[in-house]
Amino acid sequence: MRTYRIAAIPGDGIGTEVIDAGVEVLNACAGREGTFAIAFDHFDWGSARYKRTGAFMPDDGREQIKGHDAILFGSAGVPDVPDHVTLWGLRLAICQPFDQYANVRPTRILPGITSPLRAVSGPELDWVIVRENSEGEYSGVGGRVHRGLPEEVATDVSMFTRTGVERIMRFAFDLARSRPRKLLTVVTKSNAQRHGMVLWDEIAAEVARGYPDVSWDKMLVDAMTMRMTLRPQTIDTVVATNLHADILSDLAAALAGSLGIAPTANLNPERRFPSMFEPIHGSAFDIMGKGIANPVGTFWSGVMMLEHLGEPAAAARLMRAIERVTADPSLHTPDLGGRATTADVTAAVCRALAADNL
Ligand code: IPM
Ligand code: MG
Repeated sequence: MRTYRIAAIPGDGIGTEVIDAGVEVLNACAGREGTFAIAFDHFDWGSARYKRTGAFMPDDGREQIKGHDAILFGSAGVPDVPDHVTLWGLRLAICQPFDQYANVRPTRILPGITSPLRAVSGPELDWVIVRENSEGEYSGVGGRVHRGLPEEVATDVSMFTRTGVERIMRFAFDLARSRPRKLLTVVTKSNAQRHGMVLWDEIAAEVARGYPDVSWDKMLVDAMTMRMTLRPQTIDTVVATNLHADILSDLAAALAGSLGIAPTANLNPERRFPSMFEPIHGSAFDIMGKGIANPVGTFWSGVMMLEHLGEPAAAARLMRAIERVTADPSLHTPDLGGRATTADVTAAVCRALAADNL
C-alpha cells in the first residue's frame, strides 16, 4: 500500500487548530479508501520559533521537506511581528525556492451556504482563480533609502518575465480547457501599467493561439470586481498577477460565503519540488485558541492535495463529505453565522466519511 509523506506546517494562530483538524480528516479519508495511507511529519516552524531563535525555520528547513510528497500549511502571522517579516520568513521562503508558481484558488458556493449576492445561487458561481505565484508585485525587488529623512524613497518593483508570464498563461489555458465551460478571463491593468501588463496581454494572445477550443477574454482588474459581483455567471477560469489575484480571491471567497472555506494549492506543476496546500484565511488572532475556526478551508485544501497526489476518488469523496456537512446549518462555524466549533465540524466530516452511502 502506498504511503504519502506529508510535511505539516501549522504555523501560527488558528493555523495549528485547522491543521490538527485537517490531519484527522485526511487520515479518516485514507482509512475509508483503504488503498493508501498518509504519514504526517510535523514541523513547528512559525512566529514562536522566530521569537526564540530569530528564524521561522531552520537553515536546512527546505532540505528537510523537499523529499515530501506535499506540504500542508496552516497560516503565519502574530500581532507583534511585522507581517512582511513573517511572509518572507516562512511562506514565501517555501513557495519561491520550490518554484510553486501556480497558485490555484477555486471558489464555489457550497451547499447550505448563502452568498451575500442576493440573486446568486450555487451553480452560478463556480470559478477558479489562477494566481501567478513567483514574481510580479511579490518579486521582492526594491528598497528604501534616506530612512527617516524628508527625502526618503521606497520602491517595490513589479517584475514580469516572459518565462514567468508564459508558463502561468499556459497553466491557466490548460486548466480552463479541462473544465466544462472552457472559458478563461485574463485580468490585467494594461491601461495604466503600460509595460508589464501590456506584456501580459501580448503573451495571452500568443498562448491563446494554441488553444482554439478555449474562449477567452480580457478584463481590467477594476472592472473585474464589478463583473464578479454583478455578473458572476459569466466567469469560469481567471488568470491574474500575484497581487491582483490576491485581492480578487478575497473578494471571491467573500462572495462565496466566507473566507473560512476558501482553499489554495501552491503548485510546482513540473513536480521538481513538493507543492503546498493551505487555507487562504490568515492566522486570525481574534479567534485563536477559541476552537471556533472554520476547518473547511483546510479540508478543501486537503481535497486539492489528494487530487495532486493522484487520488481522485478519495478527493471526490472527501469533497462530498464536506458538502454534506456544510449543507447542515447546525454545523456552521461563526464565520458562517453558526455556532458550531472546529471539533464539531471535524467530527461531522469524519462521520460522513464513514457513512456507507457517501
Ligand atoms: C494570501 C494571503 C497572503 C498573500 C498574505 C498572508 C501575505 O493574503 O495567501 O492570499 O498576500 O499572499
Ligand atoms: Mg490574500
